[in-house]
Amino acid sequence: MIAAQVRGYLEKASWIRKMFEEGARLKARYGADRVCDFSLGNPDVPPPQEVAEALREILSEDRPEFHAYMPNAGFPFAREAMAEKVSREQGLKVSAEEVVLTCGAAGGLNIIFKALLDPGDEVVFPSPFFVEYGFYVENHQGVPRPVPTREDFSLDLEALEKAIGPKTKAVLLNSPNNPTGRLYPEEDIARLADLLREKSQTLGRPVYLVSDEPYRNLVFDGLKVPSIFKHYEASFVVSSFSKELSLPGERIGFVAVHPEMPEKSEILAALILANRILGFVNAPALAQRIAAKCALSLVEVSIYERRRNLFCQILDEAGLEYIKPEGAFYVFPRTPIDDVEFCKLLQEELILAVPGRGFGAPGHIRLAFCVDEKVIERSREGFIRAVEKARQGG
Ligand SMILES: Cc1ncc(COP(=O)(O)O)c(C=O)c1O
Repeated sequence: MIAAQVRGYLEKASWIRKMFEEGARLKARYGADRVCDFSLGNPDVPPPQEVAEALREILSEDRPEFHAYMPNAGFPFAREAMAEKVSREQGLKVSAEEVVLTCGAAGGLNIIFKALLDPGDEVVFPSPFFVEYGFYVENHQGVPRPVPTREDFSLDLEALEKAIGPKTKAVLLNSPNNPTGRLYPEEDIARLADLLREKSQTLGRPVYLVSDEPYRNLVFDGLKVPSIFKHYEASFVVSSFSKELSLPGERIGFVAVHPEMPEKSEILAALILANRILGFVNAPALAQRIAAKCALSLVEVSIYERRRNLFCQILDEAGLEYIKPEGAFYVFPRTPIDDVEFCKLLQEELILAVPGRGFGAPGHIRLAFCVDEKVIERSREGFIRAVEKARQGG
C-alpha cells in the first residue's frame, strides 16, 4: 500500500494525467503531426554545436577514471567552470568551493530544502509557480506558501511582506518565470532584498532567498535578468543546462552559494551531504564534463523569441488576453471561461494546453512554445474558433 501523501498527490494530479491521456488519444486518432501540442516544456531547439564538439573531445580522451565516483560536490574543474559562469552572470566573484554540481535545477532545489528545512518551516513563493515546487518543499517536511502576484504577474511585495512570518525559512523566486514568462526587474529584487533583511533582523536569523533561474539566459527584447547576489547575501542561485543547452535529459545543473552567506561552510557541507543522501550521490560525470566545456554556450534564443512573437499575434487575433512573455518559453493567457473547460474546447481543435490551476492560477492556460513555428501557425484558426465557442457558451 502506497503512502497516504503520495496517494493524495496522485489524486490531485489526476486531471493533469487526464489531459495527457486525452492528448495521447488525439495523437493516436488524428496523427501526431495534426495535433498542436503546447503542453510540454521540453526544449526542441537543438543544443548548440559546442555540445557535440565537447562530446567528441571527451570520447577521444575517455579514460576509466572518467566514470568513477567523485567528490559529492562534483569534479573540481566543473565547479571551477560553474563558478566562472555564475561570477559573470551575478557580477560578483564566486569561487569553486561555493558551487555544488546537481542533477538539474530540480536536484539543486531539493538539496537546498533538505539542507535548510525543519519540519513545518515555510517556503514562500510567488504564484503562479512551477508545479513541482510544492512537492520539493514537502519532500523535506516544509510547508509551501504560494503568494499571488499582481494582475500582470509582477511581484506583489506587500503580499510577500504579509506572508513572511516566524515560520518562513526561505523565499523562492523564479525569473524568467515558468509559467508566465515574466522577468522581475532590478528595483523589485532590491525591494525584496530590503524586506528580507528587515525580516531577518526581526526574526534574529536569516530568511534565505533561493533564486531558481534555469531560464536566466533565455530572454527577449535585449532584456537582462538582474543579479540576486548583488542584492542579498543569504541567497542561493540554482540553475541548470536543461534549457540553456537543451539538455534536460542529461540532468545537469548547479547550486551557487553567496560568498558572504552566513554560516557558509556549514551550509555548503549540508548541501553536499544532501546530494549524497538523497541518492543523487553526485551529478552525472559525463554531463559535468559537457557542462564544464560548454558553460558559456547557449541555444539559439532568437528561435524562441520569433515563436513568442508569432504566438502573441495569434492570441491577439483570437482575442485572448495575456502578458507578453519576456523570457523562458511559455505564455500564460487568461481564459474566457473556466480553464479546464477551455482546454477541452481547444482539444476539439486538436490543440493541447495545460490548465492554469495546475500552476496555482485557475482562469489561465499555459502554452509552451517548444514546438516548430509551423505548429504554432497551424493552431491559429483553432484558437479563434475555440474562443468563439467559449463566448457562445461552448
Ligand atoms: C522553473 C523551473 N525550475 C526548475 C525546473 C527543473 O529543471 P531541471 O530539468 O534543470 O531539473 C524547471 C523545469 O521545467 C522549471 O521550469
